[in-house]
Amino acid sequence: MAKTKEFFNILHAHSEAKLNILDEYVVTWMRKIALGPFGEKALVIDGFSGTGVYDNNKHGSPIRLLKHAMNFCEQAEKHGWPAPKLMFLFIEGFDDNYDELLSNIYKLTRLDLTGEAGFERLPGFPSIEVSCQNGSFEDVLESLLGELKSGYTLIPSFCFIDPFGFKDTPFDLIARYLKNPKSEILLNFIYEETNRFIRAKDPKIQAHMKKHFGVNDLNELTELVSDKEAALRKEIVVDFYSRQLMENTDVKYVLTFEIKKSGRTKLILFYGTKNIKGIKVMKKAMWKVDDTGLYMYDDRKPLQDIRFAFTKEIEDEIMIGDLANQIFEYYTGSRAYIEEIEEFVLTDTIFPIEVYAKKALVKLEKEGKFKEVRNRKNKNTYPKNTIINFN
Ligand SMILES: C[S@@+](CC[C@H](N)C(=O)[O-])C[C@H]1O[C@@H](n2cnc3c(N)ncnc32)[C@H](O)[C@@H]1O
Repeated sequence: MAKTKEFFNILHAHSEAKLNILDEYVVTWMRKIALGPFGEKALVIDGFSGTGVYDNNKHGSPIRLLKHAMNFCEQAEKHGWPAPKLMFLFIEGFDDNYDELLSNIYKLTRLDLTGEAGFERLPGFPSIEVSCQNGSFEDVLESLLGELKSGYTLIPSFCFIDPFGFKDTPFDLIARYLKNPKSEILLNFIYEETNRFIRAKDPKIQAHMKKHFGVNDLNELTELVSDKEAALRKEIVVDFYSRQLMENTDVKYVLTFEIKKSGRTKLILFYGTKNIKGIKVMKKAMWKVDDTGLYMYDDRKPLQDIRFAFTKEIEDEIMIGDLANQIFEYYTGSRAYIEEIEEFVLTDTIFPIEVYAKKALVKLEKEGKFKEVRNRKNKNTYPKNTIINFN
């Protein structure tokens, strides 16, 4: 695809929030796969890579991903761990951006990918393999999935889908990718544009919209959103797409994160996985960008939101109390392993495990809400296999 560059390619704060979530997540995800019990090879697909470096010198997804991989390899060498086997597939549709991407990858890694079609090893990091494809996300992913021999599935993979609009992310293709047992997505759903065109009459736009949502008929969705005010409309669209993922792909869990610019919802990140451990890591990553429990970044907020340490403490107390109540309400009169309680926190509450779960349990214990706690040595600790008998 030819395209001339007619605007400054700047990374704005709201888009940076998206990349901060990507950073947080991928660093841990790579470690979990490569250092896990199977020491597996991992594949990262960056479906809409961009140039790698913005005009304001900030790094885009491909350069960030490669830097994380290189740091991981250096860390592994230092600690005497096996070299992590990592593959990266970067897809960029526009010719100028693709050329810039190759040049930025070269500057970082000394890997010259001009004229290369397949995966090449990074100089100095032979366990990292990189391929860049100058084509559309749809064609490249289609051919990757098509190349899989019958009965074979992809190695554990994570696909970052970061388009400009809603036309290039066919739901059916994403569903097919997610059929691979260890595959997951972080999709940047361009809410503002989708919302603007959702009820467009133009048959071409309607066709794109159907493909985007993975439906043959848009009536259900358009009726649902009709005459609704903005906040409810957004909720309906998010719920509809989440349901599509949950009901028509193999994912078991979906997390969303809203990104606002100048007070308007621009993007909704959808994370879909089959693995509860993925939810644990992604909740933590999202919480790092917004710790209010709203799962939302608002570029106006930093100006208004100068929080003092004591307000943060009060907020934490409220959150701990809230989670403690939810746990107690759910388990009252019953018995549960700590692992089950953690799963409940992950899948049924807004809270990540790391920040509040233990503190909520300590609070309940101090308040005498437990009849008995088994399989642990010390009070106020909840190691693996701890059983809690709730009052
Ligand atoms: C939002 S930008 C990606 C930003 C990048 N992920 C980052 O974090 O810096 C979208 C990119 O996708 C490219 N693009 C647009 N349509 C495409 C398609 N159908 N397939 C692949 N790339 C496409 C654009 O040229 C642009 O560089």
